[in-house]
Amino acid sequence: MHVLVIGSGGREHALAWKFKQSPRVKKLTCAPGNAGMAQLGECVTADVKDVAGLAALAEKINADLTVVGPELPLVLGVADEFARRGLPLIGPTKAAAEIEGSKVFAKEFLKRHGIPTPGFTVCSDHGDAYVALCAVEWPVVIKADGLAAGKGVRIAPEPDDATAIIEAFMEKRELGPAGDRVIIEEYLEGEELSFIVLTDGKSVLPFAPTQDHKRVFDNDQGPNTGGMGACSDEALLDAALRARILREIVEPTFRGLEAEGRPYQGFLYFGLMLTADGPKVLEFNCRMGDPECQPLVVRLESDLVDVFEKLAAGRLGEAELRWSADSSACVVLAAQGYPGNYETGKPITGIEEAEKADGVAVFHAGTKRADGKLVTAGGRVLGVTARGADLRAAVERAYAAVERIRFDGMHFRRDIGARGVEKLAAQR
Ligand SMILES: Nc1ncnc2c1ncn2[C@@H]1O[C@H](COP(=O)(O)OP(=O)(O)O)[C@@H](O)[C@H]1O
Ligand SMILES: [Mg+2]
Repeated sequence: MHVLVIGSGGREHALAWKFKQSPRVKKLTCAPGNAGMAQLGECVTADVKDVAGLAALAEKINADLTVVGPELPLVLGVADEFARRGLPLIGPTKAAAEIEGSKVFAKEFLKRHGIPTPGFTVCSDHGDAYVALCAVEWPVVIKADGLAAGKGVRIAPEPDDATAIIEAFMEKRELGPAGDRVIIEEYLEGEELSFIVLTDGKSVLPFAPTQDHKRVFDNDQGPNTGGMGACSDEALLDAALRARILREIVEPTFRGLEAEGRPYQGFLYFGLMLTADGPKVLEFNCRMGDPECQPLVVRLESDLVDVFEKLAAGRLGEAELRWSADSSACVVLAAQGYPGNYETGKPITGIEEAEKADGVAVFHAGTKRADGKLVTAGGRVLGVTARGADLRAAVERAYAAVERIRFDGMHFRRDIGARGVEKLAAQR
């Protein structure tokens, strides 16, 4: 079968890597892909915002299955366009993807269906926002409504900070229309958990638990990023809490979407805060997480193509996800300046040496080939991913592999998985 992967990040390289291991995949096309994906299949120029162009590509190459990595084409309706042309695709329709595309929609949806989420006020202009800020407890979280590539959520410790954020989002319109409405949200303490599931609208197949590391510096300091690393270990989530998340959050979400005429198909990512009061939804993502995808695929033993094929046919209930008993970790190597402005075109060395170690896979994100040389081409450059007998071993292996890799200005967190290791040690 011929599989088309849409996107160009570490998540998409990891999916392509997993597909390539399936004896059933004869051909792989990536649109647009990156230098790592080019080693696995054919990369074609593509604009992920051009949903008609993507559907035309799938038609032209006769793709048997298309998997969408990033949220943008889904929010723009790529699934609807594929469905109109009878092309199988994994991902929600435009109406269902609004659960990520509009945080205002998501919060009001959560409230309508009694699903636990932090308290909030929706503000449609800056006047409303300044009024709402008079009645909050500090700190407060301010969220732009629309897609903002990780730049739309800021924590305001004090009123002055909040005023500056509202000014930036709503008056200076630094995020464009994404900031025309904002949410002022209650700040929650707790540990974050990425709970990712696949659904065909009838059955729900949860992925193994993962933990992302959002902030750019160690000990969760500095600004938010797209994610600086992630780890996966079965013990990050105990059975009772898992059952509670499914019962109080996952099931009512899909029931609610169905009842509102937005049946859901594809990945749904629940960004959760585990509070003293139980799990609460911080946000939804209408696709797989990046970097969570990287530590997940290296633990997944099932053939993902089989799973997706059953999903596309509405028979996900017949599919299963088998996980290795190993743990895994992914350390993101970023370009100097990321998540702010960064330079590109820096030569990268050492990937082959890094991958010589057992259980190590280096997934490319912002990379490309220029004059035959591998160079940086984005803020997040590589995701060094390793499996190990336990989380500590996985983390150690990933960092040993990181030592082999060099590019000018490279930076990374040194504490990926550290909290997980501590938590697991405390359980023993
Ligand atoms: N209510 C909240 N309380 C505490 N931290 C929050 C809250 N909402 C978001 N955050 C922090 O901000 C990060 C980004 O927020 P999120 O809602 O996931 O938006 P996005 O991923 O679109 O930037 C979260 O991963 C979390 O660390
Ligand atoms: Mg998030």
